[in-house]
Amino acid sequence: MGTGDPAERLSIRRGEPRDRAWIVRSSHATFAGFGDYGDIIDRWLSARGVASVVAEEQARPLGFSILYPHRRLGLLRPSFVELVAIVVEPGRRDRGLGRSLLDRSELVARAWGAREVRLHTARENDGAQRFFLRAGYRPREAEPSFYPRGQAAIEMARRFG
Ligand SMILES: CC(C)(COP(=O)(O)OP(=O)(O)OC[C@H]1O[C@@H](n2cnc3c(N)ncnc32)[C@H](O)[C@@H]1OP(=O)(O)O)[C@@H](O)C(=O)NCCC(=O)NCCS
Repeated sequence: MGTGDPAERLSIRRGEPRDRAWIVRSSHATFAGFGDYGDIIDRWLSARGVASVVAEEQARPLGFSILYPHRRLGLLRPSFVELVAIVVEPGRRDRGLGRSLLDRSELVARAWGAREVRLHTARENDGAQRFFLRAGYRPREAEPSFYPRGQAAIEMARRFG
């Protein structure tokens, strides 16, 4: 029997088709200032090989991440895995949930045989950059890139030792 400890009710699991509608709604709400991310994430979720990770408490989703393996033609092992998005519901941030989602995402990437995870985040998103820096991600030299509404993006990466 449970002790009532919230940590016991929390689960971090692979995403399933039934999570898709919530992930799309959450992306739309979270990234509205950057572009039409409901549609963009919906398309990512149709990509071959894509995976998601979901954090939930008593069947209520609280956060997700999306991972895409970049594979060179004919190779099974991805040359890198892209962390397409990671989101924790606004009321549940700063309690380690994002880090749990990121840790599980990296396990998925390792299970695919990847040695590197890359991601983009907005140059103005100091909180996300700090979050990724603490988790071992470092800015990467890359072509300048921009979100649909014009904000500059930076690329960060973590190589597994
Ligand atoms: C980025 C994001 C996913 C992080 O999720 P989160 O659940 O807040 O992450 P964590 O709680 O693991 O870490 C956040 C901070 O809380 C602190 N923290 C972690 N556990 C804690 C705890 N138990 N008590 C107090 N603080 C804690 C961490 O030290 C961290 O501090 P930092 O900002 O100095 O690095 C979340 O802020 C988010 O959804 N942002 C909007 C979407 C976004 O920008 N995504 C990234 C680009 S795709």
